Amino acid sequence: MPPGAQEVADRLGPLAARPHIAAALQTLGEPGSAQAIPTPAAVIDLAAFDRNVAQMAARAAQAGLALRPHAKSHKCAALARRQLAAGAVGVCCAKLAEAEALAAEGIGRILVTSPVAGSLNAARAAHLAATLPDFRIAIDHPDAAAELAAAARTPIQVIIDVDVGLSRTGVHDAAQAAAVARAVLAQPALRLLGVQGYGGNWQHMEGANARASAVAAGMETLLAAIAAIRAAGGTVDVVTGGGTGTFAADAAQGVLNEVQPGSYAFMDREYREALGSDPEGAYEQAATIVSTVISANHPRWVTVDAGLKAFSTEGPMPVPLSPRFAGCAYRFFGDEHGLLMRPEAAVARGERVAFAPGHIDPTLDRYDVFHLVEDDVLVDIVRVEARGASQ
Ligand SMILES: Cc1ncc(COP(=O)(O)O)c(C=O)c1O
Repeated sequence: MPPGAQEVADRLGPLAARPHIAAALQTLGEPGSAQAIPTPAAVIDLAAFDRNVAQMAARAAQAGLALRPHAKSHKCAALARRQLAAGAVGVCCAKLAEAEALAAEGIGRILVTSPVAGSLNAARAAHLAATLPDFRIAIDHPDAAAELAAAARTPIQVIIDVDVGLSRTGVHDAAQAAAVARAVLAQPALRLLGVQGYGGNWQHMEGANARASAVAAGMETLLAAIAAIRAAGGTVDVVTGGGTGTFAADAAQGVLNEVQPGSYAFMDREYREALGSDPEGAYEQAATIVSTVISANHPRWVTVDAGLKAFSTEGPMPVPLSPRFAGCAYRFFGDEHGLLMRPEAAVARGERVAFAPGHIDPTLDRYDVFHLVEDDVLVDIVRVEARGASQ
């Protein structure tokens, strides 16, 4: 049963009073209501999202991998709950603030995948560890073990982050892995669960073979770190990592026992272009940014209300999905506007155009709410609780 407008308004709190959200709420559940959502809007096709979530859950189960989807893609408790209900063992968060926002909504099984620094952040991690049923955090330096232990009120579960090729965070080699393991083992307040090896630079490599070779090389580094941690007396039960693009290679390599994909639930142009018809790319475009043609006077193009503030800008250009605009190129036209080349057929002011964004995570982070639709019906509006929570 879809929720009623009052229930949704109660959940949205002060956001429900914003006129554009209140207007959408008035149409909730009505046929055609998806076509009346004020734009630009982040619209999730719920059936497609659920099929993506079910497909990844089935593939992970078949490969014997625990699935811990990365919530940085959506930052939304309602969507995290659907992933957990479909079999995920927990979620990942990129930052403490993201974890705090989702924890406040009742998400209790969280791995923070980025190391943090400083005693204030250690205290925040300690608070999450003391209040959540299952909180874990990645660390990559012996000092982090000391900081966390000093803040701990209850045992804190840690995962040693290993640099498997991205060189963003993580211990750089087996000797550093052993040093962090020794620092963790010296602290009775910490529990060493295992390792993380995330190759972000492999995810969008074109060609399944290229991704498989990169994963194979990176897993050698991870295996060396695991051996060093074990030699230092540490246990390594959890081996977590991976993303949407490397799922097949991760499963084939058999080193990870937990995977952290995020984008698969929505998809974007960057992944579509890299993965083509590879099985890793067999997910539907479940999230779109819907815009409206607000000016149609120019002979060669029309102007839509979605510009630099509606989409992330570092990936491929957004692509219109509405069949009427098939093949029409989009360009950013300033902060608030986009230029869309005209199709052959006439375009009316007020026409709506759905776009597949270039890069999904930073695009969805621009929206306070997601509009959930089934066919042409708006069935729910949910808060993006961790929007902007990158602290
Ligand atoms: C540590 C970590 N794990 C997993 C992911 C998920 O990757 P994807 O969205 O490509 O599936 C990310 C994304 O940036 C990440 O940083």
